[in-house]
Amino acid sequence: MASYDVIVIGSGPGGYVCAIRCAQLGLKTACVEGRETLGGTCLNVGCIPSKALLHASHMLHEAEHNFATMGLKAKAPSVDWAQMLNYKQDTVNTNTKGIEFLFKKNKIDWIKGWASIPEAGKVKVGDEVHEAKNIVIASGSDSASLPGVEVDGKTVVTSEGALELGKIPKEMVVIGAGVIGLELGSVYARLGAKVTVVEYLEAITPGMDGEVQKTFQRMLKKQGLDFVMGAAVEKTDVSRGKAKVSYKLRKDDSAHEIAADCVLVATGRRPYSEGLGLDALGIETNKQGQIAVDDQWATSVKGIYAIGDVIAGPMLAHKAEDEGMAVAEVLAGKHGHVNYEVIPGVIYTHPEVASVGKTEEVLKDEGRAYKVGKFSFMGNARAKANFSGDGFVKILADKETDRILGAHIIGPAAGDLIHEICVAMEFGAAAQDLALTCHAHPTYSEAVREAALACGDGPIHM
Ligand code: NAI
Repeated sequence: MASYDVIVIGSGPGGYVCAIRCAQLGLKTACVEGRETLGGTCLNVGCIPSKALLHASHMLHEAEHNFATMGLKAKAPSVDWAQMLNYKQDTVNTNTKGIEFLFKKNKIDWIKGWASIPEAGKVKVGDEVHEAKNIVIASGSDSASLPGVEVDGKTVVTSEGALELGKIPKEMVVIGAGVIGLELGSVYARLGAKVTVVEYLEAITPGMDGEVQKTFQRMLKKQGLDFVMGAAVEKTDVSRGKAKVSYKLRKDDSAHEIAADCVLVATGRRPYSEGLGLDALGIETNKQGQIAVDDQWATSVKGIYAIGDVIAGPMLAHKAEDEGMAVAEVLAGKHGHVNYEVIPGVIYTHPEVASVGKTEEVLKDEGRAYKVGKFSFMGNARAKANFSGDGFVKILADKETDRILGAHIIGPAAGDLIHEICVAMEFGAAAQDLALTCHAHPTYSEAVREAALACGDGPIHM
């Protein structure tokens, strides 16, 4: 039995970042992880492998569609799927090994196995019980199940199975037009699959700015994705490697079916806390199964904290990381803070989609007086040269004070561009502050400045 200041349960972005920060702050730290490698869902079967496949399939798209225009003559590349999966796995391995290196560097013990908490101050892994002054639960989330749809990991898969299909499907049905469905749907569409997305609501990517939703769906349609909107999937039937997806259109209750050789279920994720023993400990959870915490991430049991996907808030790796760092500060007797108003969200399709702060819809609901500064990438020289003129930057600012309230970008490198606006918002900046900042030419970021100018006297290149 070993004794620690902190034991973190789970080594995803929330857990491993928390462990590293705890160690940096001088706390004797261990992290429990039952997978064979560190990094949790994000590094092993989520963010990182999906980005590798998005990158590879985007390169194929460039070769097929834009090389000839640039005077690059080559035969269209063919896809070696096994090698693409190797590349994806190598990408995962370098990242998970990187966390192992960081653990060693920071003298964090990796306790291998699945943890339970028999009582406050104790963590059981296998037959061993370890002592900890404080415990941080960072056990993450799992794909939510859908009644009537049985995941078999081959024909009907969740995001995890979709990252290691035996072959590229000819016809794929994606259930749910959220982030996972659209990222992985675009991978397989680029690789040649006929992809149909079936979505319960009338708009894709729930909660996103309405104008971005429309533009995004138009672009995805242009890339070959089909959409069935306002459709509730009721069941799937699988026979000899073929699936039949049955759904009802909400407008008239009519029943329909689509056939596919692969079905991706992407209808959300649920908090994962199985086996920890929360009930016996008396740790409160809400209806969604999320662990209830106070503003310092403390659960209802003294000395036990929780962060990331297992508590409320957006299920995003970087939100979990921020909470991990903040709770480490709290445990070290310092001040931990996360600004939940400024958490960016990014969809890594091509083009990327990124947002931070409030949408126009939310501002209208709140009755806020706001102004919109919008700039199309068509007016951005760099974007035009790189076949990326479709899309825009939209900044929402307070009508009176000009303070930035939100920003929504669809276009090249949107996931990177959004951060200049995040920093501006952290400093309580006005749109004019961005407009008065010199931006290098020719860069995509000039479109951000132009959108900020559009909140005032107007952009230059429109
Ligand atoms: P989601 O909640 O984003 O989208 C699920 C969609 O499925 C919704 O549009 C919903 O209306 C639809 N749906 C639900 N039941 C349905 C039914 N019976 N028939 C048809 N449609 C139905 O969930 P998703 O995409 O699975 O992602 C899960 C979580 O993972 C999200 O919180 C997301 O933010 C996070 N994530 C983030 C990524 C990123 O930041 N790039 C990448 C991947 C996941």
